[in-house]
Amino acid sequence: MKFHIMTLFPEMIEQSLSNSITGRAREKGYISFNAVNIRDFSNDYKHHKVDDYTYGGGAGMLMQAQPIYDCFQSVKESIIKEGGNNPRVIYVTPQGSVFNQSMAADFAREEDIVFLCGHYEGVDERVLEEIVTDYVSIGDYVLTGGELPAMVMIDAISRLVPGVLNNDESAMTESFNNNLLEYPQYSRPEEWMGKKVPAILLSGDHKKVDEWRLEQSIIRTKERRPDLYEKWLAENPPQPEKKKRRRRKKTEVTDTEAVTDVVTKENSDNVSE
Ligand code: ADE
Repeated sequence: MKFHIMTLFPEMIEQSLSNSITGRAREKGYISFNAVNIRDFSNDYKHHKVDDYTYGGGAGMLMQAQPIYDCFQSVKESIIKEGGNNPRVIYVTPQGSVFNQSMAADFAREEDIVFLCGHYEGVDERVLEEIVTDYVSIGDYVLTGGELPAMVMIDAISRLVPGVLNNDESAMTESFNNNLLEYPQYSRPEEWMGKKVPAILLSGDHKKVDEWRLEQSIIRTKERRPDLYEKWLAENPPQPEKKKRRRRKKTEVTDTEAVTDVVTKENSDNVSE
């Protein structure tokens, strides 16, 4: 997977993605970063200007169409030369669809992805119409530029590229898998500040541990992310009561019963990758 980042601050990208897991994945050749300075494509050879005032007035400067377009043509040419296809071009903007795990998985299937990082008050609309395929935001707040959002997305996408995570890391259960948050985890010592590790985790009974973890994931998601919990519930509706239970006084299926039903029904595939 090759990331091409069109930016006014290529060193920002280089510095942050060269470390940790993305740095290691790059060294091993699973991913590559190509941070391209839009300023190098300015027609203003003296000052390398890339911005100008906005037609119609208003505060702030706008990134001009020409340097971005020429920068993109150069990136596209290099992709095609290497045997790639027309790439998806993500413009990182608070006006885009909000990035999530399934979008990360979708982008991770591409060979090449181009990011356009904006600055100042934005980008001339005409070049966006010409080159952008996806408008993506990382949340409902405004940052000073597109580099941080692009790096957030690149990090999330990279770890889904086959080979980037080692076995231990990729075997880890993840939040947002199946719309559930990850269950609580514990390491040594068994007791810390008077708090004990839940006994079930020391039992050695893997089936029970998996059931407990799924139950905890459900409880945690319901408490912390009711929006996700609703999605999960829609995909995992409570099962009809079993015959044994039907003899009991008929009541509505409670959440606890929904949890228990699912815990019984689902196996550990539901939470483990
Ligand atoms: N640029 C500025 N703010 C942003 C955001 N929240 N998401 C994506 N790009 C941005």
